Amino acid sequence: KVGMNVQDLAKLLHRDASEIIKKLFLLGIVTNQNQSLDEDTIEILAADYGIDAKQKEEEDLADIDRFFDDETVNEDALEPRAPVVTIMGHVDHGKTTLLDYLRKTNVTEGEAGGITQHIGAYQARLDGRLITFLDTPGHAAFSEMRARGANVTDITVLVVAADDGVQPQTIEAINHAKAAGTPVIVAVNKIDKEGANPDQVMNQLMAYDLVPEEYGGSTIFVKISAKQGQNIDQLLEMILLEADVLELKADPTQPGRGSVIEARLDKGRGPVSTVLVQQGTLHIGDPVVVGNTYGRIRTMQNEKGEDLKEAKPATPVQITGLNAVPSAGDRFVVMADEKSARAAGEEREKRAREEVRNAGSVVTLDTLFNTM
Ligand code: GTP
Ligand code: MG
Repeated sequence: KVGMNVQDLAKLLHRDASEIIKKLFLLGIVTNQNQSLDEDTIEILAADYGIDAKQKEEEDLADIDRFFDDETVNEDALEPRAPVVTIMGHVDHGKTTLLDYLRKTNVTEGEAGGITQHIGAYQARLDGRLITFLDTPGHAAFSEMRARGANVTDITVLVVAADDGVQPQTIEAINHAKAAGTPVIVAVNKIDKEGANPDQVMNQLMAYDLVPEEYGGSTIFVKISAKQGQNIDQLLEMILLEADVLELKADPTQPGRGSVIEARLDKGRGPVSTVLVQQGTLHIGDPVVVGNTYGRIRTMQNEKGEDLKEAKPATPVQITGLNAVPSAGDRFVVMADEKSARAAGEEREKRAREEVRNAGSVVTLDTLFNTM
């Protein structure tokens, strides 16, 4: 495996690093613990210990995070990608209404009669540019994803109702956005309502470092009515403006990588998952590991139910072909072939089961002590 040093290899072989260094010395290679080794040297050494290095590597396939985090991007292949946006805010402040409005206008604009499916994510278009919205309701899904290391969101749109102001979940949402390090665009909603007081919302939010530009800050505020569709285009414009600042790019030439947005078991089609491609391109037929599941991409559809052959970065797609249902926040990686995908998936599944079993016995002990 590329990038492995003497210490890594020693660990893998359950030997002392000093022993490895000695052996290498006898082979005429002078090294130290941190020196990385080339593939040939590793194979020779492993063979010396009676181990098939290729097989070891296969076992290590379970470590798919390694593939996922592989940041060896080809600078020349980088292309601009759509921003991925999550909408958050307090209960009843209008998140769903805003998403519904965007979805409705989006459908009627392009393909009349198109039936929008709920796939947990979809794309809106303004002036030919795409914006990906994650339709994960509530903070739970958001923090769940972050806890699993899936930082999928580029920009947070914070919806605050102008007739209700800053509320507990508004503050929670701000904290989530800060922890995730995403910029926040504030959508002051329900400005059509009697008693709406957008200025008060702006004043309240200054206490949380969200200072409007007109007060010398750098936070974008847009006053909208999600119900009547007022200033929604302006909101999309601001999202694209913020995206320009972030210079979001990805390399579509790599094997596809990304995260699960949601997944369920469909009676007829088996496990159905919505995934967001974050790097590379996902194709029909690609062998994949998805969390602790694996398979081959059998079908791939967008939110309009249209069949796709491939999906580039920032595209959400609904896929089938996995052996089981993955969890929201799970990461996926395209593997070289179906065999390694299966090996990695099965190994990960096994480890997950062992973890549960180990955790289970701890709980039992705890319970025992607590009841005494
Ligand atoms: P939860 O999913 O429960 O957190 O709520 P939500 O943020 O998704 O709010 P939702 O979109 O369900 O809106 C709550 C209520 O506010 C509904 O009755 C909407 O019709 C209403 N509402 C949302 N946006 C507007 C608006 O711009 N103007 C007015 N007048 N009412 C709105
Ligand atoms: Mg809602």
